[in-house]
Amino acid sequence: MNFKALTAIASALTLSASFVAAGGADDDTLVVNDEISIVTKAAAPAHMADAVDEVISGWHFRTDETQSLQADDFDNPGMLFVEQGLDVWNTADGSEGKSCADCHGDPEESMVGVRTVYPKWNEAAGEVRTLQMQMNDCRENRMGAEAWKYDKADAINVEAMIASVSRGLPMNVAIDGPAAATWEQGKELYYTRTGQLELSCANCHEQNFGNYIRADHLSQGQINGFPTYRLKNAKLNGVHSRFKGCVRDTRAETYKPGSAEFVALELYVASRGNGLSVEGPSVRN
Ligand code: HEC
Ligand code: HEC
Repeated sequence: MNFKALTAIASALTLSASFVAAGGADDDTLVVNDEISIVTKAAAPAHMADAVDEVISGWHFRTDETQSLQADDFDNPGMLFVEQGLDVWNTADGSEGKSCADCHGDPEESMVGVRTVYPKWNEAAGEVRTLQMQMNDCRENRMGAEAWKYDKADAINVEAMIASVSRGLPMNVAIDGPAAATWEQGKELYYTRTGQLELSCANCHEQNFGNYIRADHLSQGQINGFPTYRLKNAKLNGVHSRFKGCVRDTRAETYKPGSAEFVALELYVASRGNGLSVEGPSVRN
């Protein structure tokens, strides 16, 4: 056998994904600050009844140690970024000299429940918008400020702050009416095999959740916990950045955070978690 054939075999071996069966989701329960009960398992929404019986938060697939970081805001490193997001909320920016608070007041009042319905159809714009798109619309068209970079600094911190005031409320994105076409596009992306590994999101997160792939205990890939503080990179991570990482892991070309494809995928994946509580900012490894 020549060298070329050997490398071909070696790379085929490293590329083939191998799933190792393991115990699935644990039975722990999550209450934040002894006060907010988090629904981390729920009956599957009707649209995915053929796929799974139950939808499960990614929290259930992490170690007890990682899980416990989410039970108290003083232990949750993501809450430091929520504080920063609140500062940004209260600071004037742009040619109009306005802050978010000037129009929206206290987020603990005005933003409660907002996270649960995004991505959401915006009638005037004729598009499905993620929370970050909506925030940028306010910045560009109501504040005369520059759009924030997708999933970066201020955008992700303010998104985490907005998520935090909805913790405990059930995700409930609409997938019918004018949002249906975008949802279908997201669904298609979810089930399409990509990359040299020829794996779809479903291959890992629907057919193999609870099993191991390499050192990782696979979850259902839910997004009710986003933005997520990851111990691995010690910062908040956005939904689209996570999608990008997962697509890259299949050795495929990926889409950009904020792209129409990832907006559609976000709507679809969010709908797979309808019924689970908002958890963001969650803690993952
Ligand atoms: C000049 C007033 C104004 C400012 C300043 C402003 N907004 Fe808004 N915002 C609005 C209005 C009006 C709407 C409703 C728009 C719509 O439905 O299209 C809105 C909608 C929103 C929504 C969607 C709420 C929902 O229930 O769907 C979010 C989230 C939001 N703004 C965040 C922000 C953030 C973050 C900032 C600061 C970066 C900000 N806004 C600054 C006026 C403002
Ligand atoms: C090769 C297997 C694999 C594929 C394919 C894959 N992922 Fe993942 N994904 C992982 C692993 C491993 C993790 C980290 C452990 C976990 O939470 O499942 C992860 C984590 C996630 C998370 C974070 C969940 C949480 O609770 O923090 C989301 C969201 C996600 N994936 C979505 C997707 C989407 C959408 C696709 C398709 C575009 C996809 N993944 C494709 C392996 C995969």
